[in-house]
Amino acid sequence: MRALRLHLLAALLPLAACGGNPSALDPAGHGAARIASLFWLMLAVSAVIWLLVVAAALAAFWVGRKRFSPSLDEAGERRRGLVVGGAVAATMLVLVLFIGAAFLTDRELLALERQPPAVEIEVIGHQWWWELRYLDARPDRSFTTANELHVPVGGVVKLSLSSTDVIHSFWLPNIGPKRDVIPGRDNTLWLRVDEPGTWRGRCSEFCGYQHAKMLLTVIAEPADAFERWRVAQAAPATPPSDPLPKQGEQVFASSPCPMCHVVRGSPAGGYSANAPDLTHLMSRTTIAAGAVPNEPGWLAGWIVDPQGLKPGAHMPPMVPAPGDLQALLAYLRGLR
Ligand code: CUA
Repeated sequence: MRALRLHLLAALLPLAACGGNPSALDPAGHGAARIASLFWLMLAVSAVIWLLVVAAALAAFWVGRKRFSPSLDEAGERRRGLVVGGAVAATMLVLVLFIGAAFLTDRELLALERQPPAVEIEVIGHQWWWELRYLDARPDRSFTTANELHVPVGGVVKLSLSSTDVIHSFWLPNIGPKRDVIPGRDNTLWLRVDEPGTWRGRCSEFCGYQHAKMLLTVIAEPADAFERWRVAQAAPATPPSDPLPKQGEQVFASSPCPMCHVVRGSPAGGYSANAPDLTHLMSRTTIAAGAVPNEPGWLAGWIVDPQGLKPGAHMPPMVPAPGDLQALLAYLRGLR
């Protein structure tokens, strides 16, 4: 008995790691809610079947022990035929029920496609972060950000998914289904978040060394708060006015940073999208795709030793001259 209890305890241990992680069974979006309903239906039907099978097996055991006979008479043959036929019919029925329920769930997931999207976002997977391009017919309302997906509550979000390197997979468990992000292939995913809040998502296809630290945050806000965020993100960076951040802008411009990072509206701003757009870096809660919080100490550590925080990350370490790191931090902390 003690050994059994220990085994049960050991079996529960892996579940302890689930605390605080996103769960598809705690839905906050259209797709996740439909998928969770399908899961509970399948679980309930399977549980009933399991109980019936166990009960039948126990009954057969008791009855068989009382009056066992190696050969069946005619009535017995007929009973056996009925039992086997009934079991086959029940299996078919359950199979049809599950296929029907899965088909209806699929149809409800696809229903979002037929509604006009409130936001269209290009999601580009990189080793190991997410580039997010908010598209708009007006170019002054289009912008790029990274790793934090803001969406309006109740609005249909159309995501166009692609990858620059290897296969990734986009998944916000609380919000909707998973979709692979494949180089050379454009996949589309429609989502709708039904309540305001913040949820974690992650890359769910092994994509190399830092696959585990390719996180994504979704923040659902009421329409007016989302619009304020959107206008703020589309604006160029505010130029620094104090001497220290001004010096920091010079440090940024003369370092390798602009070869990969863009700061829109700054003379120091780069031109490629090899790395996250930094125009409004401080509006994000984490850095390095959710690896560490966006706080000055972590930011300094990330600049000086990215490999220490996220081994294998494609950001090279930077060794600033004395005083330059503080100036650079002051500049980056001003990118709100
Ligand atoms: Cu990207 Cu795993």
